[in-house]
Amino acid sequence: MNIFIFKDQQELAQEAARLIIEAWEKKPDLVLGLASGRTPLNLYNCLVQAYQEKRIDFSRIRVFGLDEFKGLNHDHPLSFASYFKENLFNLVNLRPENIFLLDGQAKNIESHCQAYEALITQMGGIDIQILGIGLNGHIGFNEPGSSFGSRTRLQILTEETRAAHLAYFQAMGEETPVMALTMGLATILEAKNILLLATGEEKAQIVQEALEGPVTTSVPASCLQWHPSVYVFLDEPASTFLKRKAFYLHCLKLTWPKKYSLRLF
Ligand code: PGA
Repeated sequence: MNIFIFKDQQELAQEAARLIIEAWEKKPDLVLGLASGRTPLNLYNCLVQAYQEKRIDFSRIRVFGLDEFKGLNHDHPLSFASYFKENLFNLVNLRPENIFLLDGQAKNIESHCQAYEALITQMGGIDIQILGIGLNGHIGFNEPGSSFGSRTRLQILTEETRAAHLAYFQAMGEETPVMALTMGLATILEAKNILLLATGEEKAQIVQEALEGPVTTSVPASCLQWHPSVYVFLDEPASTFLKRKAFYLHCLKLTWPKKYSLRLF
């Protein structure tokens, strides 16, 4: 695992954008797996800025969404589709035919999920999967207990995950969804590279468990310890409880400024 600790969220986002731009320079038709949530927002802002400054071009980039609430259509303001439109898709030159999202209103969920997996394979697999981490260690909506062999599927949400989204749905006078469609852990592990982002002290405990604790389905993100090309970008507060923090900083000092050696082909 390549663990990077940045002084703040802005520095983290800029560096994450640099990693993606570096990959795009090598592979202009990059396949990106996109996470939603608060954590990657700064990264998407940096990518939009880079696009405006002509440091990246999205015309050949393909994107796959990581998850979506069941029952929400893509125009629902709290759907992840809306989130992506608002924060990235409408602001760069991504082609609509290169955007692939899970459909929270799919009639036949099983076949929809299977077709989604087939599309990922057809595009040559995901080059970089961007991930956040939930307070309970989930990645995507793979809640604790999810099998490391899980594929794209319907997942029942834990109460803690629903609570994290409650305020947004409450503000709209709606019930928080009880289920979601998500790429599975095995699907995520097939990405060629993983870029895991975590910020803020509230994530410090679960980050420590996921990166340094035992690999266990109780902490779904711990499965990333098995992946050969993981980049973990943390801000200072999220790194607070890491037991090997001094060693990670030592490694960083010896290897910085870094050229990322991503597995792209
Ligand atoms: P957050 O969500 O980025 O909004 O903290 C992360 C997650 O729950 O996966």
